[in-house]
Amino acid sequence: MKVTVVGAGAVGATCADNIARKQICDELVIVDIKEGVAEGKAMDLMQTAQIEGFDTRIIGSTNDYSKTAGSTVAVITSGIPRKPGMTREELIGINAGIVKSVTENILKHSPECIIIIISNPMDTMTYLALKSSGLPKNRIIGMGGILDSARFRYFLSQAIPCSPNDLQANVIGGHGDTTMIPLTRLATYCGIPVSEFLDEEKAKKVAASTMVGGATLTALLGTSAWYAPGAAGASLVEAIVRDEKKMVPCCVYLDGEYGQKDICIGVPVIIGKNGWEKIIDFKLNDQEKEMFNKSADAVRKMNETLSTLS
Ligand code: LAC
Repeated sequence: MKVTVVGAGAVGATCADNIARKQICDELVIVDIKEGVAEGKAMDLMQTAQIEGFDTRIIGSTNDYSKTAGSTVAVITSGIPRKPGMTREELIGINAGIVKSVTENILKHSPECIIIIISNPMDTMTYLALKSSGLPKNRIIGMGGILDSARFRYFLSQAIPCSPNDLQANVIGGHGDTTMIPLTRLATYCGIPVSEFLDEEKAKKVAASTMVGGATLTALLGTSAWYAPGAAGASLVEAIVRDEKKMVPCCVYLDGEYGQKDICIGVPVIIGKNGWEKIIDFKLNDQEKEMFNKSADAVRKMNETLSTLS
């Protein structure tokens, strides 16, 4: 079992670190465009093998995709991250070309591969990877909802207060500061609605903090976050490799589900060895439906700008 992570920046390296520690695969390939960086990070990670006790063989490659041949899953983290004050959407001009060519290179050597997109603006990059590759829709998955839901659970756990592990709470919609939809109505603390523990005002604050969760970290760090994005990417790889049939919100292609067509956006899906295997098309209330449609409008507008890029 072989997994590739493209992009040896902070998110890619953290994702690789988590994949190795969890022993998800036998072989892990890290690819980066910058001379020596992937090789260096792979060697550094390999030197944790004895300390952490894992057996995954990690190799680095400067843009040589032949080393990735036969990968079951590839995670694309390439592109530039956002700087303080920037939205994820502002990255589209640079990242679109990168994501398209990385997708082509991966598929050249691993035609059966399942591709996970983390690069931003993630919903549009997922759509681009799907359209440009012509892959079956279940093999392209955008990772945003797992991260946003982890952030939602973190902010809920702080407000209640409780352990994030005792919470079930999901974020659907786009992976953008104004497009994500924390589903507070359906969030539970050990099966009990969170509304039993939080008044409306506090719950609204939690949802608002979740939506700008990435921007808050970018302002603090001077660049985009990596620990939770990397760990979230690895958890998605694990769900595929171990055929977990796990339900998580991911960015996938909708063909009528949730009343939307020809768009990649976050909804609950079942993840297993075939990629995303099923969309859970459950009934939103009127307010959530309105938010979902607005979110889809914004994502679609962003997708339209793809045609203006050279
Ligand atoms: C974030 C980036 C990965 O939300 O989109 O931190």
